Amino acid sequence: MAFRARHLLGIEHLGPDEIITLLDLAETYVTLNRQPQKHGRALEGLTQINMFFEASTRTQASFELAGKRLGADVMNMAMAASSLKKGETLIDTAMTLNAMHPDLLVVRHPHSGAVDLLAQKVNCAVLNAGDGRHEHPTQALLDALTIRRAKGRLHRLNIAICGDIAHSRVARSNILLLGKMENRVRLVGPATLMPSQVDQLGVEVYDDMRKGLDGCDVVMMLRLQKERMDGGFIPSEREYYHRYGLDAEKLSHAKPDAIVMHPGPMNRGVEIDGLLADDINRSVIQDQVEMGVAVRMAAMDLLARNLTAATTTGGVLV
Ligand code: NCD
Repeated sequence: MAFRARHLLGIEHLGPDEIITLLDLAETYVTLNRQPQKHGRALEGLTQINMFFEASTRTQASFELAGKRLGADVMNMAMAASSLKKGETLIDTAMTLNAMHPDLLVVRHPHSGAVDLLAQKVNCAVLNAGDGRHEHPTQALLDALTIRRAKGRLHRLNIAICGDIAHSRVARSNILLLGKMENRVRLVGPATLMPSQVDQLGVEVYDDMRKGLDGCDVVMMLRLQKERMDGGFIPSEREYYHRYGLDAEKLSHAKPDAIVMHPGPMNRGVEIDGLLADDINRSVIQDQVEMGVAVRMAAMDLLARNLTAATTTGGVLV
């Protein structure tokens, strides 16, 4: 089986064969999730702990459902009420949980790199559910599955990622994944919202939406990540919407069958027109949510198989 990873910390560490293996397995879970009886047994007897140190609606719910559908015992830690508030460090909290023998640890944290650090300290599989502005691998994988199903392929597509790229882990993981699968990625947004060293990412950069969307197959919109901004990155939301908000007119510059994506949470009237977001002929935003559960089931299933292999061979999880 072409999935060697012990943890899912980022797209950076995955090979194209591993990405395809995961997406193919996720397809079977899309089918399962559409049945009235949704139970699989891949995680039966295993314990999954979700630790979300940042707000989350869809990612946490999605991981919880994914674990439960595959038979795991799932525990959601209420991090706001945890001992971190009493001064315990992230690592001490992780070590405490580690002593309870979890098999899968799903972690979201505001600091880039925090989840990688934690993975070095525990001996279960760790899944990164978003760390600062670094990576959000399951989001990029669910986006990839959504694109593959809508376009029939995951290579040689023109994909525009638009808006607040600088603060977005979603953008970073998507740039890595779409690049590995040999797509042409364009970043579209104001210079103030582009990451530093953007020239080293293997992408094209546009500050004009109409030019950036010209001939695109996929238009991926991002939220303005105000919680990660420490100053004025845009003149005003009104001005931003005028220049960078996706509406039907701007979308008309992309290919006639271009799809519209957004990872959520969405700010209607800031980065995207509400009517367009709801237009089922163009928007695949709800499909992204559906694919999210299937992709997380596949990710935990594959990691659990490697977990068993490591245990039975006496291997150490690294
Ligand atoms: C994203 C995140 O948390 O990085 N949301 C998500 O997981 N669906 C994007 C965002 O917060 O804007």
